[in-house]
Amino acid sequence: MNETIELMLNHRSIRKFTEQPISEEQLHSIIASAQMASSSSHVQAYSVIRVTDLSKRERLAILTSNQRYVADSPVFLVWCADLYRNQVAYSLHDDPNHASLHTAENMIVATVDAALAAQNAALAAESMGMGIVYIGGIRNQIREVTELLELPERVFPIFGMCIGFPDQEVGIKPRLPMEAILHHDKYDISQVSNLLESYDQTMSEYMHERTQGKMRRTWTEDMKNKFAAPSRLHMKAYLEEQGFYLQ
Ligand SMILES: Cc1cc2nc3c(=O)[nH]c(=O)nc-3n(C[C@H](O)[C@H](O)[C@H](O)COP(=O)(O)O)c2cc1C
Repeated sequence: MNETIELMLNHRSIRKFTEQPISEEQLHSIIASAQMASSSSHVQAYSVIRVTDLSKRERLAILTSNQRYVADSPVFLVWCADLYRNQVAYSLHDDPNHASLHTAENMIVATVDAALAAQNAALAAESMGMGIVYIGGIRNQIREVTELLELPERVFPIFGMCIGFPDQEVGIKPRLPMEAILHHDKYDISQVSNLLESYDQTMSEYMHERTQGKMRRTWTEDMKNKFAAPSRLHMKAYLEEQGFYLQ
């Protein structure tokens, strides 16, 4: 165990922040850490938009289905997959219509790049005593967000991120048993049901404690609720509009 591992094992999302501001220097360290994440073929196919305009923050809170912390957190970042810059780079040397920026493969490349950079930023923030929460709700009304932030073609927001100093005590959410996610030499389906049963027990006890006895939800129930109806069905058409996933 070392400090870095302890920090990662101590992660919990924070949704209530003190008024303590984040200095420009701290933010610079957070973004510099993000930039040092690995990047597929060094394409660095992501951008991050820091939203300080209060009216935009209020609008984003509404567009993310009224998540107040989007407006109230000291820093709010929108992490975007971004192949626009790569297109500009390409066009310096060839007709951009010949480029393969639009493929599903490159959409994955850009999405992964953005996620890796964001998680580096999250860890940097947490290492300075801050807390973060990702905001996938940014995709709830993604066209409006795209317009609000004036995103060009080949750029789309993946998630937002609230950052600030924690103003709440939150428990650490138990993860799946390691045997469920770590396989050896081949994918082993034989233990999945048993492991889920034991995880349901763990999560149900955790939720009972976290909600002061109000709730005893299991993880498999949560998954049933999450996947019963498709969500954000606008994404496919939206991605095509932004110039992604055409092939
Ligand atoms: C891509 C992504 C999107 C998320 N979107 C939201 C969100 O819109 N609102 C929210 O309150 N939490 C959001 N979360 C936080 C998750 O709910 C949280 O990470 C998960 O429940 C595990 O809890 P923990 O981070 O406290 O360990 C998101 C997390 C990720 C990775």
